[in-house]
Amino acid sequence: MAEKARIAVLISGAGTNMAALVYASRIGACPYEVVLVASNDPAAPGLALAAAEGIATFACPHKGMSREAHDAAMEAAVLAAGADHIVLAGYMRILSDGFVERWAGRMLNIHPSLLPLYKGLDTHARALAAGDAFAGTSVHLVTPELDAGEVLAQVRVPIVAGDTPESLAERVKLAEHQLYPRAVAEYVGRWRDPAALLARLRTLALALPETDERESHGSPGFRVGGEKGGKFFAYFADQHHGTPHIALLVRTGSMDELMNLVESQREIYFKPAYHGASGWVGIILNRPGVDWDEVAEWLERSWRSAAPKRLTRLMDIADTF
Ligand code: GAR
Repeated sequence: MAEKARIAVLISGAGTNMAALVYASRIGACPYEVVLVASNDPAAPGLALAAAEGIATFACPHKGMSREAHDAAMEAAVLAAGADHIVLAGYMRILSDGFVERWAGRMLNIHPSLLPLYKGLDTHARALAAGDAFAGTSVHLVTPELDAGEVLAQVRVPIVAGDTPESLAERVKLAEHQLYPRAVAEYVGRWRDPAALLARLRTLALALPETDERESHGSPGFRVGGEKGGKFFAYFADQHHGTPHIALLVRTGSMDELMNLVESQREIYFKPAYHGASGWVGIILNRPGVDWDEVAEWLERSWRSAAPKRLTRLMDIADTF
């Protein structure tokens, strides 16, 4: 069983979304654990629940502190808890750009509207005033611009006759409690999900000229050169031959290059069974922090070494500009 992601949950109030995240983490093979619940309000009811659940807690009132100093105190607690992701759950503070940038791609928020609609506050009153038929909630990555990061998941919730901002908020929270744990689990687990890794690889491989996908010995493979004379330049290997790796196999220039890569960067490269004998290298994809630009470069290089001259000639000419 791979290691779990360690999440710190930041709250300002009731903490019902935090509770949903905690209880989901205790059911089945959840890919994350909650290692800290922190708040800018020492009286936030969620803190007492987290403590009763045996989770480390931290509170730091923001009054009298600059935004940067308060963020730094929260961040220090998050780091001390060994968290690798921050999950905002009703944390009603705008965060400083530096803090957000340091956690780019590792900080999520839930916002009670169908983003990009109704960023900011009073979302329910605004949805009602607009006469909308649906409200909802969105899980998104946090970026310096408020409520504007990539939306990872959304769910719609109907507005019913007689709704008030309070009744609507309560119904939206029911949906949030289902959505947030799933979206967080999917996001933190994405680097070990074969379907997600293959989808990403496919997008990169098929963006290269004259490529197609064809199965080879039960694995997805990518070819260049057309239906008839096509040659494989990449394979996707999902834990083949007893390895724990989900990997991309691509051509290197030589056996020496392959062995050098494997010896100097064992956490990234390996010599695959069968294809390794002809100089193909395995690039491990099920590890956190994969550099996808580097993966794209490997694909292009392997594509070039398999592509017919009429295709590479154009590329070579383009390179001289
Ligand atoms: C949730 O509805 C969440 O979407 C919202 O605050 C509520 C917190 O409830 N967040 C925002 O409005 C962020 N701008 P909870 O404390 O019971 O989880």
